[in-house]
Amino acid sequence: MQLTPFKLERYFARYEFNVKYLLCSSDCESLSVGDLLAFEPGAEEGLKHHWLGYTESSGAQSLRQEISRIYTGIQPEQVLVHSGAEEAIFLFMHAVLQPGDHVIVHWPCYQSLFEIARSIGCEVTLWEARLENRWAPDLDELKHSLRSNTHAIIVNTPHNPTGYLMPQADYQALNALAQKHGILLFSDEVYRELEYDPADRLPSACDINPSAVSLGVMSKAYGLAGLRIGWVATHNAPVQERMAALKDYTTICSSAPSEILAELALRHRGQIAGRNLQIIHNNLSLLDAFFAAHAESFEWVLPKAGPIAFPRLVGEDVEKLCNQLVTSSGVLLLPGTMYDHPGNHFRVGFARKNMPQALGQLEQFLDARAISGGLA
Ligand SMILES: Cc1ncc(COP(=O)(O)O)c(C=O)c1O
Repeated sequence: MQLTPFKLERYFARYEFNVKYLLCSSDCESLSVGDLLAFEPGAEEGLKHHWLGYTESSGAQSLRQEISRIYTGIQPEQVLVHSGAEEAIFLFMHAVLQPGDHVIVHWPCYQSLFEIARSIGCEVTLWEARLENRWAPDLDELKHSLRSNTHAIIVNTPHNPTGYLMPQADYQALNALAQKHGILLFSDEVYRELEYDPADRLPSACDINPSAVSLGVMSKAYGLAGLRIGWVATHNAPVQERMAALKDYTTICSSAPSEILAELALRHRGQIAGRNLQIIHNNLSLLDAFFAAHAESFEWVLPKAGPIAFPRLVGEDVEKLCNQLVTSSGVLLLPGTMYDHPGNHFRVGFARKNMPQALGQLEQFLDARAISGGLA
């Protein structure tokens, strides 16, 4: 296994804790332990007495019970808890893929979704989402990419980095296609529950496709990345068992305090996601106005879900702009080159409370450059 560096994560490792304004985060505004404990009387006492021994390798039963409520037809036994979504991606790929298998990956994407398959020696086809199609990947292209050795399709909706939300009909067709050809569908649903219109929420793949594996996490919609609790939910017992067997070689089990806090948060997940959606709605209207005011410099598709979007910078190199911005104003944007995307895009994040201040700094930076003859 030869893994190439994870560009986006290396970029965040360099900047995330050294800059004043994160204007490209993919997680929502977080909470403190105290905020979480305040949701329920007795929760603080419960945490104090929580046992710090090993936990169940598949995740505490009561946590899996809470996670299973997210889905319509999943039992707690069909949930496998991981340390973040990242561990689950790693273990899924290693559990199901062999060198020479063909894998189709919705792209651009979070790098591990294709990189791990590549490192195993799989043939990877990138199923490209394009700006000119308002970031919709083309189902006919997917059909034409299928091969006799296609073993898995990896999809992410709501999508990182574009904020694209697949329409119901396409999503059903995708699941039907995977089932028809006996292909495993790995559905990265870490931004689910952040649909701007709740009517657009897709069913989880595991609820409509018996072999599909759905990925969830505390980090994104609930803003609780520091818990490092993620999971897969699936009716596919053989895949789940293989992942569980591999987990004995990575983390064995999750952190006990994280499990109890995740369980508590999930009991109030509607309220937490609702608060995060409110932040997104407020910030998104500011961002939309910003892009309207700078229409000659940016091309943008208003997202339908999630905390991020992927605008295109016109007339100047995006890496150069991001560099100048972070150096002179302490505002971090993520250049699309971190996704190996060639289209001069950048990721913008808008689920943090201080986003209006960060946007203000960006505006000032652009104004100052316009005065000195740079970008308008
Ligand atoms: C689409 C997607 N999947 C998985 C992950 C990994 O999530 P976590 O950091 O909680 O493990 C991320 C993180 O940014 C992501 O955007």
